[in-house]
Amino acid sequence: MSSLFPRLFEPITLGPRTIRNRIVSSGHDTVLDDHGKIGDDLVAYHEARAQGGCGLIVLQVSGVHETARYTNHVLMATDDSSVPGYGAVAEAVHAHGATIFAQLFHPGREVMDGERGMAPRAVAPSDEPQERFKVVPEALSTEAIKEIIAGYASAAKRISDSGIDGVEIVASHGYLPIQFFNPRVNVRTDEYGGSPANRRRFLAEVVAGVREAVGPDVVVGLRISGEEKTEDGMVATEVLDLIEHLDGMKTGSDAGPSAGDIEEVDCLDYFSITAGDSSTLQGAVHIVPSMQIDPAYAATLSEQVKKITDKPVMVAGRINQPHEAEKAIAEGRTDMAIMTRAMICDPAIASKAQRDAVDEIRACIGCNQACIGHFQMGVPISCIQYPESGRELQFLPRPTVRIRRRVLVIGGGPAGLKAAAVAAEAGDDVVLCEREPHLGGAVLMAQELPYRSEFGGAATNLSAEARRAGVDIRTSTPVTQQVFDEVAPEHVIVATGAQQRMPHLEVDDEAFVIGARDYLMTQPTLPAGRVLVSDWMGDWIGLGIALRLAEARVPVTLATAANFAGAAIQQYTRTLLMSQALRTGVDFVNDARLVGVDATTGYLQSTLCEIVHEVDGVAATIVSGAPQSVVPDLDFGTASVRTIGDAVAPRTVEEAVFEGLEAASSLAPVP
Ligand SMILES: Cc1cc2nc3c(=O)[nH]c(=O)nc-3n(C[C@H](O)[C@H](O)[C@H](O)COP(=O)(O)O)c2cc1C
Ligand code: SF4
Repeated sequence: MSSLFPRLFEPITLGPRTIRNRIVSSGHDTVLDDHGKIGDDLVAYHEARAQGGCGLIVLQVSGVHETARYTNHVLMATDDSSVPGYGAVAEAVHAHGATIFAQLFHPGREVMDGERGMAPRAVAPSDEPQERFKVVPEALSTEAIKEIIAGYASAAKRISDSGIDGVEIVASHGYLPIQFFNPRVNVRTDEYGGSPANRRRFLAEVVAGVREAVGPDVVVGLRISGEEKTEDGMVATEVLDLIEHLDGMKTGSDAGPSAGDIEEVDCLDYFSITAGDSSTLQGAVHIVPSMQIDPAYAATLSEQVKKITDKPVMVAGRINQPHEAEKAIAEGRTDMAIMTRAMICDPAIASKAQRDAVDEIRACIGCNQACIGHFQMGVPISCIQYPESGRELQFLPRPTVRIRRRVLVIGGGPAGLKAAAVAAEAGDDVVLCEREPHLGGAVLMAQELPYRSEFGGAATNLSAEARRAGVDIRTSTPVTQQVFDEVAPEHVIVATGAQQRMPHLEVDDEAFVIGARDYLMTQPTLPAGRVLVSDWMGDWIGLGIALRLAEARVPVTLATAANFAGAAIQQYTRTLLMSQALRTGVDFVNDARLVGVDATTGYLQSTLCEIVHEVDGVAATIVSGAPQSVVPDLDFGTASVRTIGDAVAPRTVEEAVFEGLEAASSLAPVP
């Protein structure tokens, strides 16, 4: 038992089930489906989290009706062909002592994908337009409403019969059940619209139908946003009112299903509290809050719910460390802690916390890049710090070497650190040389940007992993021929990263021009006046520098060669950064490359046509151009050589860490 986290590891009872601890992996769409069904990849993914010690796993959303296909890869629970998949994942999770539920889902108007690239088509209580995905839904007929309600019940029955311990009705984030309750979205005038009782009817019938279908021995829960935090969204008082009504529903009561041959039981066993709403960018940032948002911030919402119900409550929202979870539980703000990305990043976080090994935890940094970022691209999720996530069958368990190999890793950025850690964990004898005094490479620059300091955690985590694995780390050690000969490796992994590259510009002698990397690492005083930031990539660097200057009240113009500033940044993270940039008055020029600078003017060439744009009154120009790979010039003799990360082609930390994993996993055995 943990001495640091005693509350977190107390068992808890949800309706008919007792769960071994209070750490929850909440429903998250992994895009690891096998044509809409649960296959081996998804089973292996959840098995790793169960093995890692969490108490409860809630499977990603499962569609309850044909109209519930919100993406082209959603799991569907609408027919019996889905049953073997639920059964397989339940068996794998149970084998490690964890409990597993599945989510019952209908998105209503929140549909992202249309068929084969066509515009999305959706149904909803009314035809009120959806802003984020630009959907105008079709209003549901009463007959169609009844069919969908029946779909929830039959999906619940199918899922629970397959061996899953519970079902969770998804009424969060502006999806169909809450669309019915929201008077700004539901403008019907029949029995499903108008008065609060009428607007509650859809969800009440779903809850009652599900309980009746599964009986008393299966857990039934409700996921709901304690506050939707957006224009036209549900506010906390409205949500609390709804929860109070649903909480009181029992089988056999007027509100509940007919008791049949089951005893009178509560229709709902627990509440899972989250925040946000899918219909606007402003609300959607709370679905998966990024590093700009404080850890455990939504516990203020679960705290309010706990005041009105005796049932267990769980809460999500950037609980990335066990002490945050323990604190929220100990303060009585929640009963269970959802740590979803925490476990995408470190599936074993629960077992590490349980043995008080907090230094071994690879904490999620809230970058959103490979988890929700991948989901939004429609590709399987992973983690930039832990690419084994979502690739369990490919990389785990890690094989150990029979004969130790001597491996030299050149470069202590993310690629080199991961390669070194993986090779050393496999049993190899690994030396890592970094020319600079500090490990971390490009991460050291990224953490200098505003709202990005947590990014430095990636370097801290990877360095700690390499040290724990026993890598011989030598900083301030450029690899010369002498160093190479002394190490005498059989394998060399070149991870020397990238450096700043200045584009070809016409620059007047009197102009002040500096590269973005130099600016961030040396932080020089800039001449007074407007700063022009030229951004090639549309990533954090240009936008971050512009934001930092604007927050210091420096007039700034951000010219990006991308379609819009921050185009390469995950949508929720970008939304928060752009909101701040708008508030602080950053000027934007899109689709424009910098071609020249004189003493007071920056010259921008449109990337779309012949138009040239002049930015006047420029005192300094900061150029964030395309970086350039750095490759050492050494004679590696007979050693095998593999180049990875930015040294191959400058990209992001995600590719660097992945290539480190791949290179170290595929070193040839000693002949
Ligand atoms: C890739 C991804 C997919 C998600 N899909 C779902 C989903 O299917 N159902 C759901 O209720 N929430 C979904 N969420 C939200 C999570 O359940 C959770 O509330 C969110 O990640 C915040 O918790 P965390 O800070 O512990 O990660 C998803 C989150 C991620 C990262
Ligand atoms: S990609 Fe970033 S936000 Fe997502 S799990 Fe990994 S560290 Fe966390």
